[in-house]
Amino acid sequence: MYRTHTCGELRKENEGQTVTLSGWVHRRRDHGELIFIDLRDRYGLTQIVFNPAENKEAHRIAEEARSEFVLKVVGKVSVRPAGGENKDIATGGIEVSIESAEILNRAKTPPFEIDQNKEVNEETRLKYRYLDLRKDRMKNNIVFRHKFIKRLRDLMDERGFCEVETPMLMKGTPEGSREFIVPARLYPGTFYVLPQSPQQLKQLLMVAGMDRYFQIARCFRDEDSRGDRQPEFTQMDLEMSFVEEEDIMSLNEEVLTQLLKELVPEKEIMSTPFPRLTWHEAMSRFGTDKPDMRFGMEIVDVSDLVKACGFQVFTGALQNGGVVKCLRVEGGAEFSRKEIDDMTEIAKVYGAKGLAYVTLAEDGIKGPITKFFKEEELAALVERCSAKTGDIVFFAADEFEVACNALGYVRLACGDRFNLRDPNKLALLWVIDFPLFEYSKEENRLASAHHPFTSPKLDQIDMLDTDPRTVLAKAYDIAMNGSEIGGGSIRIHSPEVQKKIFEVLGISEVEIERRFGHLLEAFSYGAPPHGGIAWGLDRILMLLRDEPNIREVIAFPKDSKAKDLLTGAPSSLPEAAVREMHIKTIEKQA
Ligand code: AMO
Ligand code: AMP
Repeated sequence: MYRTHTCGELRKENEGQTVTLSGWVHRRRDHGELIFIDLRDRYGLTQIVFNPAENKEAHRIAEEARSEFVLKVVGKVSVRPAGGENKDIATGGIEVSIESAEILNRAKTPPFEIDQNKEVNEETRLKYRYLDLRKDRMKNNIVFRHKFIKRLRDLMDERGFCEVETPMLMKGTPEGSREFIVPARLYPGTFYVLPQSPQQLKQLLMVAGMDRYFQIARCFRDEDSRGDRQPEFTQMDLEMSFVEEEDIMSLNEEVLTQLLKELVPEKEIMSTPFPRLTWHEAMSRFGTDKPDMRFGMEIVDVSDLVKACGFQVFTGALQNGGVVKCLRVEGGAEFSRKEIDDMTEIAKVYGAKGLAYVTLAEDGIKGPITKFFKEEELAALVERCSAKTGDIVFFAADEFEVACNALGYVRLACGDRFNLRDPNKLALLWVIDFPLFEYSKEENRLASAHHPFTSPKLDQIDMLDTDPRTVLAKAYDIAMNGSEIGGGSIRIHSPEVQKKIFEVLGISEVEIERRFGHLLEAFSYGAPPHGGIAWGLDRILMLLRDEPNIREVIAFPKDSKAKDLLTGAPSSLPEAAVREMHIKTIEKQA
């Protein structure tokens, strides 16, 4: 028998019992005579005392043991002498005096110390992920993830949702990313595609009468990794029949609120019901479709106030059909030259041509652009954005989305600068009334803003022919603390409307038949009105665990360049294996 108890289990009540523990040597302190070993397993640490006067053989083993050796020990539980208690660990009131010990396995010196919280570079952590996972931070994240998903499954089950597994090898589902493809050995020249989401299949399940479906679903998207993106990630995906937007939003809000209250009671949900903003309002007031609502600092439109000013940058933008937007930052007059330059850089990264500003000093309004304004114009600007002495006001003049977006990022940077993004607060909101299409200037064509199965607002269907860019979608996103944590929509259930959308997207009849023929056919056999949503589980977990990126809540993530540093994927294959797949590789031209 390897153990009677775990390393996190023993308390003062166990005094006098003979116990067997197994685990890793977390820390070893050699006090000449006495050797102390903190033995570690998933559940905690227990202090083991090796006294040569009591047991020579066991003491010899303790002398030999090194960090991360795997030991089995048998000993007696004793209460630690007064003053010797360790309040930091659950077993800190006791120790185990050794009777016998056995080395179950030796360990090489690990590339980083498990018992310390020193920064280790991420490449090393990912290469030795199995060691990284021994650390509390990662272990706790993974266990939290399990608990969150377990409870989520129960809450969905209680509401009548049935979890259905959908295939990984299939025909693609468009979510706007490139797809991973898998060659089909049995059919030369053909390919499976890994799903970007279970979107099509969950809609087919509604046609099948499943009524309420959910799945903890793995999704694959061949896109560049970022802090909040992985090529392989997990959604809580759901679909419901005979519902409107309101039904889906209220159910999701209820489940999510319940989960947050149970799993992160220490965090404060800032407002329930979650506020709702239209996409246009969100862009216009916060410069993003996923606003961080933990703080105010709203973007304000001042186009009307600067129409006749002498600053060509502003008037020029307005003449081109653009806007002038500003962001008042309380206390920002203290920004150094460098900080202002950094903010300008941020605005430029997000497409702005520059970032003008004025500061409100004790003795008046200052800044390089004040000379272009009449006194009353400056006064009106200050009043519009409620600026006070000590503030700075940033301006962006550009097309609506560019100006808003750039100031949106400056807003976040200022929020960080003044510690307004409190991790103990959870600000959730719905963003609704998205445009159905996005317009790509480079390609001069429309693309679905969400995906092509999203229903337009029914009273706007006629505008699909005349003015598709203004058509709004029955779509909703859910954002938390500045991250998009979910998105969904009411779907099109009429084959005619679906065809029309494909037409507007410029997908040819042949292409429609090739890619979506099965779906359109299914819809012709009595599709119920339906809709759904998917949560980005990794992102939610990242925020709840106060982690800076989603890799920290995934046991075996890819690195920021989509590589698996642990196994070395992606990797080349023996030529025969590739040939069997009917694949020929071509050297990349320099
Ligand atoms: P969408 O594409 O908006 O919708 O995805 C839903 C949520 O999944 C998360 N997410 C990601 N998380 C990590 N890495 C990624 N690469 C990644 N991409 C997306 C986001 C996002 O909000 N089928 C639709 C849902 C529906 O309409 O029901 C879909 O997949 O948090
Ligand atoms: P310039 O006239 O280019 O020297 O710019 C004067 C100030 O206006 C600088 O602070 C620029 O960063 C800023 N600026 C330039 N273009 C824009 C713009 N489109 N919107 C806001 N500020 C701008």
